[in-house]
Amino acid sequence: MMRRRPTLDVLVDSTDRRRALCVDVESGLGGPDKHIPPTWFYDEAGSRLFDEITRLPEYYPTRAERSILAEAAREIALETRADTLVEIGSGTSEKTRLLLDALAEVGSLERVVLFDISADVLTEAAAELGRRYEVDVHALVGDFRRHVNRIPRGGRQLWVFLGGTIGNLTPPERHDLLCEFESGIGREGHVLVGTDLRKDPARLLAAYDDAAGVTAAFNRNVLSVINHELNADFDPGAFEHCVVWDDAEGWIEMRLRARRAHTVTVGDLGVAVRFEPAEEILTEISAKFTAGQLAGELAGAGLCPRHAWVDEQGDFRLTLAQAAG
Ligand code: AVJ
Repeated sequence: MMRRRPTLDVLVDSTDRRRALCVDVESGLGGPDKHIPPTWFYDEAGSRLFDEITRLPEYYPTRAERSILAEAAREIALETRADTLVEIGSGTSEKTRLLLDALAEVGSLERVVLFDISADVLTEAAAELGRRYEVDVHALVGDFRRHVNRIPRGGRQLWVFLGGTIGNLTPPERHDLLCEFESGIGREGHVLVGTDLRKDPARLLAAYDDAAGVTAAFNRNVLSVINHELNADFDPGAFEHCVVWDDAEGWIEMRLRARRAHTVTVGDLGVAVRFEPAEEILTEISAKFTAGQLAGELAGAGLCPRHAWVDEQGDFRLTLAQAAG
């Protein structure tokens, strides 16, 4: 097979991106309950900070998920015999290589589709996979809240959504996305979803508030993104990184808390945003699942769990599912 260079399709160009950020900032900072979706963390600096987070001693999910993949990749390859691996929110695709190695060994792999919001990281990851594997590599720059329906269909697909990123969505958003997965994978296809599990809140809080302050910098970076993209004048230093465990919801919340009363101007929107002392912006939820929880949510989206794996410490779970019925 002739190897081609990775193709890059941009589903969100810089104009769309700015427009979507405008909508999110206008609705998120316009009312009393201030919030910004976690999508906007991942510019080049934010993606680099996230990569650093995955190597922190406190941040166990990446290591836990990698250890599961190392154990389960061959079984997943044999069960799915996928010709197309689609990774949603692919980032560096570092852990995904374990699956690609296994699919290549089984001999089924023909193409890889990487889908991510961050064009720079995506381009690098696609080039790296293109060098390592004799397969077609397609990179799609998009927002999984809006563009999953643009992923090419057909063949035996394996869609993977790793890292516990599904936990960054609210339950109704998770339902909608899982329904999109169900229609995308087709009759023969599979989905593989990584979920972080409920555990001692002290460990959860440490994972999102590391001693080196990398997660704090990652959290504040969203303010720099708004500054650059929308001509705002946030002073990231005027906000404190806060992490809360919400036991009733079963999720971690990251917030940015104003250290003092002040007003921020968002130039391109022509608005001024007033902050009271200690007023907070919710920047991320990260849901932690109970053992059977995802299976129920998959079933609600017409998907049937086939297999699940948990790491030795019981921290993280990978679930393989296919279309029900
Ligand atoms: C990449 C979405 C899985 O929720 O744990 C890491 C993002 N936020 N530290 C997560 C994140 C703070 C991460 N995900």
